[in-house]
Amino acid sequence: MCAVQRIVGLVVAVMAAMVMGVACSQSHDYGDALNKSILFFEGQRSGKLPSSQRMTWRKDSALRDGYEIGVDLVGGYYDAGDNVKFNFPMAFSTTMLAWSVLEFGKGMSSDLPHALDAIRWATDYFLKATSIPGFVFVQVGDPYGDHNCWERPEDMDTPRTPFAVSKQFPGSEVSAEIAAALAASAMVFRPIDLKYSARLLKRARMVFDFADKYQGSYNDSLGPWVCPFYCDFSGYEDELVWGAAWLFKATKQPIYWNYVLQNINKLESSATVKYINGVSYLGGSFAEFGWDSKHAGINVLVSKLIMSMAGTGSTPFISNADKFICTLLPESPTVSVSYSPGGLLFKPGGSNMQHATTLSFLLVVYARYLKLSNRVVHCGNVVASPARLVKLAKGQVDYILGSNPFGMSYMVGYGKKFPQRIHHRGSSLPSVGQHPKQIDCKGGTDYYNSKNPNLNLLIGAVVGGPDIEDSYADFREDFVQSEPTTYINAPLVGVLAYFNSRSS
Ligand SMILES: *[C@@H]1O[C@H](CO)[C@@H](O)[C@H](O)[C@H]1NC(C)=O
Ligand SMILES: *[C@@H]1O[C@H](CO)[C@@H](O)[C@H](O)[C@H]1NC(C)=O
Repeated sequence: MCAVQRIVGLVVAVMAAMVMGVACSQSHDYGDALNKSILFFEGQRSGKLPSSQRMTWRKDSALRDGYEIGVDLVGGYYDAGDNVKFNFPMAFSTTMLAWSVLEFGKGMSSDLPHALDAIRWATDYFLKATSIPGFVFVQVGDPYGDHNCWERPEDMDTPRTPFAVSKQFPGSEVSAEIAAALAASAMVFRPIDLKYSARLLKRARMVFDFADKYQGSYNDSLGPWVCPFYCDFSGYEDELVWGAAWLFKATKQPIYWNYVLQNINKLESSATVKYINGVSYLGGSFAEFGWDSKHAGINVLVSKLIMSMAGTGSTPFISNADKFICTLLPESPTVSVSYSPGGLLFKPGGSNMQHATTLSFLLVVYARYLKLSNRVVHCGNVVASPARLVKLAKGQVDYILGSNPFGMSYMVGYGKKFPQRIHHRGSSLPSVGQHPKQIDCKGGTDYYNSKNPNLNLLIGAVVGGPDIEDSYADFREDFVQSEPTTYINAPLVGVLAYFNSRSS
């Protein structure tokens, strides 16, 4: 709870909304939050849990995934509050965990081994999901069956249908994102386990080739099994360039750099041009970064990559990345996101907190790049220094950790007041240890409808978050607000590591 906010709020009610997010400089324990943000991934684990499992209310689950077709697909992560393994967002979360370690691993100290475990839990699974040449498994679990039940993962009895893309039925977005995840993770493991790293990189190249050679969207190939759940709204071209950028970073081979160069203009001009206050925005390179849209990530990643390269003067990455930053800063003439009165970044659609975390990640990464190259960003007449970008990101993180008008930490287990009724099957039902007897599909309904707090703490889970008026209902039914996801947490891991290293 933040005393400053309260006083300011009483004195000048009108100003309060503006001042709250800024004036309340409650200091946070970023190390504790970092620890918890990584711990969360243990709660999302599918498969056979190791003896090192710290979130012990979770047990083994889905131990026969893939067996009905003779493929081992055991492992990986449940994406959110349900028990489906959606590989598209899982791969993006993995790429972001890996990028977090590559960029900010030095600030993770004793949490680094746990971050590596979190990445490896995904990459071990992706090696399985890509083990048959010509196929990429993109999902395990019938999402309709799963969503119709409120069951613990340990009890699941809904169809664990495996879904794959192939040459005839391609899925370039999900395949290329898996390639990106494998390539980024290969870099993470290079200094630690060279053999594993080489395996990941080899597979990344193979999967990228497949994604590029057989182009198409899994939207079309798998239809209602994947979309409306994780539709590929932005097309698969961004994932192909993103995958190539990561492969270039990991291999330094010109073939991938040429791929990025040849496709970036096509990517940006094929999509709709948008105008904000007279400035044109090509493609998706503005105010958006997440499991679906990679444009801004490509521009920020490549801006840093080309710092050390000669002859890149005419490439669009830096100017695109600058424009992207200008769509986020509240004082910029081309700002195109909203901010709540308390200062939380908002974009339309569900699970808003994912935008606050992914965009904060790019803000701190780009701030470091600006600093290294002695640059600032010009947004019309507004000049933004690296420190300004960091400040915006810090405001988002502090908001998430409780510096907000509601005085609520949106990370489970962090701070005094945090969400108690998150939309998460395992967390809301009694643990297998407490209640070994199976709770079947509809057996969980009473727990779902209960007004009581969840029975198990999914420590570190960051939920979808409050509404644009900064209020939060804490209702399990309201999944837009109360559901955690892996892609909210994954970029936050890096941002917390950054602020942790700054404060210690
Ligand atoms: C991380 O959190 C866990 C669970 O809350 C705790 O047991 C552990 O001591 C923490 N580790 C560090 C390094 O803070
Ligand atoms: C995938 O489906 C969504 C929802 O119907 C649609 O908006 C999007 O354009 C589709 N993407 C592709 C690449 O076809």
